[in-house]
Amino acid sequence: MYQLNLSELTLEEFLRDYWQKKPVILRQGFKNFVDPIDADELAGLACEEEVESRLVYQKNGQWQAEFGPFEHYEHLGESNWSLVVQALDHWSEEAAQLIEPFRFIPHWRLDDLMASFATVGGSVGPHIDLYDVFICQGSGKRRWRVGDRGDHQQFSAHEALLHVKPFTAIIDEELTAGDIIYIPPGYPHEGITLENSMSFSVGFRTTSTVNLYSGLADHLIDNELGEELIEDPHRMPTQHSGEISKDDYQLIKNQLTQLLDNDDLVRQFIGCFMTKAKHELALVALEEPLTPDDISEILSTNTLMRLGGVRAFYFEESLKQGLCYIDGNEYQFSPEIYEAIQLVCDHVCLTPRLLSPWHSDRHFLHFITQQINAGYWYFSE
Ligand code: SIN
Ligand code: CO
Repeated sequence: MYQLNLSELTLEEFLRDYWQKKPVILRQGFKNFVDPIDADELAGLACEEEVESRLVYQKNGQWQAEFGPFEHYEHLGESNWSLVVQALDHWSEEAAQLIEPFRFIPHWRLDDLMASFATVGGSVGPHIDLYDVFICQGSGKRRWRVGDRGDHQQFSAHEALLHVKPFTAIIDEELTAGDIIYIPPGYPHEGITLENSMSFSVGFRTTSTVNLYSGLADHLIDNELGEELIEDPHRMPTQHSGEISKDDYQLIKNQLTQLLDNDDLVRQFIGCFMTKAKHELALVALEEPLTPDDISEILSTNTLMRLGGVRAFYFEESLKQGLCYIDGNEYQFSPEIYEAIQLVCDHVCLTPRLLSPWHSDRHFLHFITQQINAGYWYFSE
């Protein structure tokens, strides 16, 4: 279990003074840090088809990026390259543990855990991210330079690498195992590897207005919603057939706002939209499905784990009506088990003790059997 240590800072102070505002180094944010996965294991994962990975290095002064899966790394030599693996939390239960200390930020804001192995001199180059990120230094040593927010010029150093022109550093420090650097969106930064290094970045996502509206439009289409037509049975004759009058503008705008005033619909959309995984899940449905009775028995002895990367959320307002959202879908359950569903959405690791009131509850067993058989939850050994 990783435990976040903010020294003198409380979580409230961190959120008040730094979150989304300014970068900060959290020295020994993880005391006695041990890499959850080593460089060889990471390199092995990057050979798998389903795992998103890339190599970044410079050749004759030109930035290069290659996308996995990789067959070997021999051409790269001993220095000046980085291997980056996206969504490591989907593929490694040990690495996924690194996300847990950051649950003081709600999970809908989370993106994924990215890992990088970099050899001496390796870097992905100076760049700006749109996301908040906690970069946790594992073994090795890296120097991090962070510049201030501002009008920075970005350019494509390679078709897959958007870089930023040289910047003046407001942070320029070396990080060793257990140190964490938090960088909010918009701050240019670069990590330069001083000793072969592992780092683990817990990234948070947000979403733009255009993304939300486009997601909402998809949701309406997929669910055949919002098909009501604008109606105007009380129309009066007009002198200006080319005009969209004030009243008509209001009529059309009301059609848009009425939809957004429908909280049930908007919650359903947000629940489905925010639980969609951005990266592939290691989802495998059980070949031999378990019955509710099997599950009841195993729940009393084994810990139930959520598959890495699976997003499960609820709204306070609709939880008690029996609604929750998992991996892009809305699920209905008996309102009697809302406390159990809350546990299932709030915790990734569900011990027999945590679920003890629900081991034999037929409504809960019905719900969780579906989820386990689909591969979203599994029993740890
Ligand atoms: C890296 O770990 O090499 C890059 C992380 C980042 O800058 O976001
Ligand atoms: Co970055």
